[in-house]
Amino acid sequence: MKHTDIKDILTDAAFIDTQVTVCGWVRTSRDSKNVAFLEMNDGTSLKHLQIVLDKEKFADVSPFMPLGTSLKVVGTAVKGMVNNAVEVNAQEVEVLGVCGGDYPLQKKRQTLEYMRAMPHLRVRTNTFNAIFRVRSVLSAAIHEYFQQNHYVYVHTPILTASDCEGAGEMFKVTTIGYSNDYENEADYYADDFFGKKAGLSVSGQLEGETAAMAFGKIYTFGPSFRAEKSNTLRHVAEFWHVEPEVAFAELPDIIEIAEDMIKFIIKAVLDRCPDEMAFFDKFFENGLVEKLNGVVASDFAVVDYTDAIEMLKKADVKFNYPVEWGCDLQTEHERYISEEVCKRPVFITNYPKAIKSFYMKQNPDGKTVAATDLLVPGVGEIIGCSEREADLAKLRAAMEDKGLSEQDYQDYLDLRRFGSVPHSGFGLGLERILMYVTGVQNIRDVQLYPRTVGSIR
Ligand code: 4AD
Ligand code: MG
Repeated sequence: MKHTDIKDILTDAAFIDTQVTVCGWVRTSRDSKNVAFLEMNDGTSLKHLQIVLDKEKFADVSPFMPLGTSLKVVGTAVKGMVNNAVEVNAQEVEVLGVCGGDYPLQKKRQTLEYMRAMPHLRVRTNTFNAIFRVRSVLSAAIHEYFQQNHYVYVHTPILTASDCEGAGEMFKVTTIGYSNDYENEADYYADDFFGKKAGLSVSGQLEGETAAMAFGKIYTFGPSFRAEKSNTLRHVAEFWHVEPEVAFAELPDIIEIAEDMIKFIIKAVLDRCPDEMAFFDKFFENGLVEKLNGVVASDFAVVDYTDAIEMLKKADVKFNYPVEWGCDLQTEHERYISEEVCKRPVFITNYPKAIKSFYMKQNPDGKTVAATDLLVPGVGEIIGCSEREADLAKLRAAMEDKGLSEQDYQDYLDLRRFGSVPHSGFGLGLERILMYVTGVQNIRDVQLYPRTVGSIR
């Protein structure tokens, strides 16, 4: 179907006074005595294109009016009366698909909660048009950042036999249904597709490290899966995970890279999505654009975990979870540090080793690891990051401590045997940074089809 994108017609003056063909869906319609107006959207732009129907030409405009109707319109692009915006004086209109009167997205703004029950339709609203444009631009900017800086994009496996985070949140993958035929777990897995226990990857890091030992700088960008039972505003069972891994980099180096990348991708969205960002600023978070401009222009804070604990203990706030050195930081703690104390993104560094994963480099104090989380106001953790333990003996000891079987991590241990180097990496949750950039507060609203505990469609 030959037609022109509405985005091009709205932004390129060369179309004015020419004949154009547009295809799209009716988003608003208004009928008056001599003319009828339609606002059409084809998804290429947040702004709609106004179609003017002269009733002398169109005796019956009623088939074109219902919201959601899909149309093909041929007409002349002209400069309109309002704000000089381009509009189209229609010559021919063809209905491509009628839209029933029970279409749930009628004129008035619906709540996000209402729309969550109809993921297949909510994408047609302005809100989701803006969210998904920003998601797309953000993703492209992530690739751009790493490609510009000589990283190799690698695709790590989704089916895996090792639980990277060791948190027991791996979805099982099996081809054997429910059965009482096996005496024990070992027999059952031996009979299964891979001949051993397998699952969906929670992180591509371990395989990413093997690639970094060859290509120096790599990144992965794909889905990770976590059978996390917590029903929160920021956890989903399937999320998109950006994981760079960098050889010859220690903790301060990877912190610098993470900060530089976050600023680069936020700036890309501010530059390339002005309409969408103005929309979020107006409807989701007043001052959002100014805040993000500030983030791009200033340094992130760095706070040692031990100092963060002191700040929390001194805080004039009653937390639900008690604070003691050694505790994992809860969302309420993370938000207090980033929102009340730092008022900007903050790296919390050097966590107690007992609460972190086995692969993190142990600090000389014997108690902490060279790890950092990046916390941002409003969301909390968006990045989990660390220098990796490059020393074979220390790594084996940590694995034993955490009850991991060396058998399952032979490749990983080999990396420490054959030319081991200091190296570091991080994981950025795409949906988490998207929430931060758009001001959208529920992670279910930044994915097409969110999967959460008890909910899939
Ligand atoms: O902090 P995490 O668990 O770190 C890792 O997986 C490391 N292996 C990363 C690495 O060093 N290569 O997860 C990293 C990030 C989190 O900070 C968060 O943004 C996101 O992944 N994330 C989730 N996002 C949505 N829903 C969930 N259930 C998430 N779990 C983690
Ligand atoms: Mg984490």
